[in-house]
Amino acid sequence: MTTYDLDALRRREYPWAAAGETIFLNHASTGAMPQRTVDALAEWARLRANPERISHDFQFGTLARARELTARLIGAHAGEIALATNTSYGVNLAAFSLPLGPGDVVLTPDLEFPANVYPWMAAAERRGFAYRRIPLENGIADTETVLAAIEAAGVRALSVSWVGFATGAKLDLAVLGDACRERGIYFIVDAIQGLGACTLDLARVHVDILACGAQKWLLSPWGAGFVYVRDALVRALEPYDVSWLDVRDSDDFTRLLHYDMTWRDDARRFEFVTVPFQDYAGMVTSLELLLELGAESVESHIRSLVDRVVAWCDARDGVELLTPADPSRRAGIVCIKPRDARAASERLGEHHVAHSLREGAIRLAPHCYNTKEEIDRALALIG
Ligand SMILES: Cc1ncc(COP(=O)(O)O)c(C=O)c1O
Repeated sequence: MTTYDLDALRRREYPWAAAGETIFLNHASTGAMPQRTVDALAEWARLRANPERISHDFQFGTLARARELTARLIGAHAGEIALATNTSYGVNLAAFSLPLGPGDVVLTPDLEFPANVYPWMAAAERRGFAYRRIPLENGIADTETVLAAIEAAGVRALSVSWVGFATGAKLDLAVLGDACRERGIYFIVDAIQGLGACTLDLARVHVDILACGAQKWLLSPWGAGFVYVRDALVRALEPYDVSWLDVRDSDDFTRLLHYDMTWRDDARRFEFVTVPFQDYAGMVTSLELLLELGAESVESHIRSLVDRVVAWCDARDGVELLTPADPSRRAGIVCIKPRDARAASERLGEHHVAHSLREGAIRLAPHCYNTKEEIDRALALIG
C-alpha cells in the first residue's frame, strides 16, 4: 500500500515521468534523481564557481549530514559510516584490511556482480588466502545453500550481494549474519541492489562490513556511496588506502605537518579524501526525500509494483519468472524471460520504457514514484 501522495511526488520530483516522457524502470542500473537533488547539484555547481561562497563548515557539514542520514537509514551510528565513492571501495576495504591470510577461506556465492569478485580474487592472490565461489542450483542464490557452504573447514569470511543483480533474489541477512557471528566468520554485504528498495536495521542484523554505492536505489549522484563498518571492528582495522584525513588530528588544517599517524576512532579512518562534496550534497537531498516518504512506505510501494509483475507472469504461459516468487526472497528487481526476450526488449526500447536485458531476461526495477499503470504498459509491451 502506498502511504504517500504518489501524484504529488511525481509532479514535484519526477515531472518528466508525470508528463509521460519515459517509463523508467531501470533503477537497478542507475537511479533517477529527484528534482530536488538535481537542484541541489546545480546550486553546488553555482557556489563552486566561486569557492569563497562555500564555507568550511558548510562543505564538511554536508559530509557529516550524509553520514548521519545514512546511519539513520540503516540503523547504525554515524561513527560506523565512511563515505565512499562506490561499492567496490567497501569490498576492497574488506578484502585487503580484514585479518585474512594463508589457511583462510573466503566465500562468495557464484554469479555475483564482479564488484564482489575481483577484489577477493586480487586479495587472495596477494595475501595468500583461498577464495571460492559457492555453486548455485539454477543460478539463483538462496540463504540455505549459502548457510550450508559456510560449514566448510577454514571459512573466515563470507561476502554476499544482498540482492542479486541479474536475478533479483534476496538473501536473508539476519539469518546469515547470525550464523557468521556464531562461527566467528566475517560477514560482508554488497547492499547496492537492496538498500533503498528494502529496509535494513543493522541494530538487529549482524553485518561486519556493508558496502553500498548510492547511485541506484538511493537515487543519488554517481560518486556518492558509503561503507558501514561495525563499531567494534572499526578500531581493529587499519585503512588500506591511506588518506591525509584518516588521522585523528587532521581536522585542524593549521597543523597538518606533525605527521602523527594515529587513526581516527571512527569509520572516517577509512575515508579516501578528497571526496566529491557536491555528490554528497546530492545524496543528502535524496536521502532526505526517502526518509521523508518513509523507507518502509517506499519498500511497500515497490513491493506492490513487483507483486504485479509476478502475478502477471503467473497468469501467463511462456513467460518465465526468474526472480523467486516468494515475496521474502525478492526486493525491487524482477527478472522475466518471455519467449523472445531480445524482441521484447526492443519493443520496450521503441516505446521509451527503460529496462535492462541481463543474462537473457528482461530486468524491471521500479521505484517510489512509478505507478501500476506504468508497470501494466511495460507488461503489455513484453506480452
Ligand atoms: C551487485 C552490484 N554491486 C556493485 C555494483 C556496482 O559497483 P560500484 O558501485 O563499485 O560501481 C553493481 C552495479 O553496477 C551491482 O549490481
